[in-house]
Amino acid sequence: MTDAGTAFAVDVTDARKRFGAIQALDGITLRVPRGQVYGLLGPNGSGKTTLIRTILGLVDGVEGEVTLLGTRMPDREVLARIGYMTQAAALYGDLTAEENVRFFARIHGGGDVDAALRFVELEDRRSAVVATLSGGMRTRLSLACALVHQPEVLLLDEPTVGVDPQLRVQLWNGFRAMAAGGTTIIISSHVMDEAERCDRLGLIRAGRLLAEGSAADLLALAGADRLENAFLTLAEGSS
Ligand SMILES: Nc1ncnc2c1ncn2[C@@H]1O[C@H](COP(=O)(O)OP(=O)(O)O)[C@@H](O)[C@H]1O
Ligand SMILES: [Mg+2]
Repeated sequence: MTDAGTAFAVDVTDARKRFGAIQALDGITLRVPRGQVYGLLGPNGSGKTTLIRTILGLVDGVEGEVTLLGTRMPDREVLARIGYMTQAAALYGDLTAEENVRFFARIHGGGDVDAALRFVELEDRRSAVVATLSGGMRTRLSLACALVHQPEVLLLDEPTVGVDPQLRVQLWNGFRAMAAGGTTIIISSHVMDEAERCDRLGLIRAGRLLAEGSAADLLALAGADRLENAFLTLAEGSS
């Protein structure tokens, strides 16, 4: 099946997921066009990771519908065209940086290992064993693993946690360049100051999208001067 005519790279309709007494997703509908950088902003426990894993088809027992690149999820084949960076760096501690990236390239059927290491500025540490890398370096290496196969959709779960401000700016420039090349990016964060680098934001709390729009839209909607305040205002209005 071709997905050439599908406008949305990611299309989630009324997703619901319960873990025991916790309603982790409480009816989320989300549509992200190709080439957009979509920021999923919300505090810890708001459902960001569950939503990202739901988009990937990795969560059992989800109600609702998820379509990824025109393919109804869950579907294993479409995952070859997706990059995913988990919150807990999923790296092989006894392999070198380069070996980790090469491994991910191989399981995805190819990729440019050098370009990925360059993107995260780890070329000079390529021969270092992961166990010897700092937390920030491991985060960068995880990112390199997630994008080495040049995925059409990149799902990044809090990728800039523990990354210093200078590299953070560089990563964002890289994300913007990838989006300009057609990559769709969903990036979660609990830090509001990254929001203006996104084309569109979804504010998530307790498994619900409180509001969606550009940073400017959300500020106007809440009559707020800062996004933190907009979040609080919109959260109050919803409860
Ligand atoms: N596997 C799980 N089992 C039980 N509860 C879970 C599980 N995964 C997530 N939760 C709960 O679902 C809620 C949303 O979690 P999560 O999606 O990880 O939020 P976030 O990524 O925004 O911090 C939290 O209350 C969390 O404790
Ligand atoms: Mg999370």
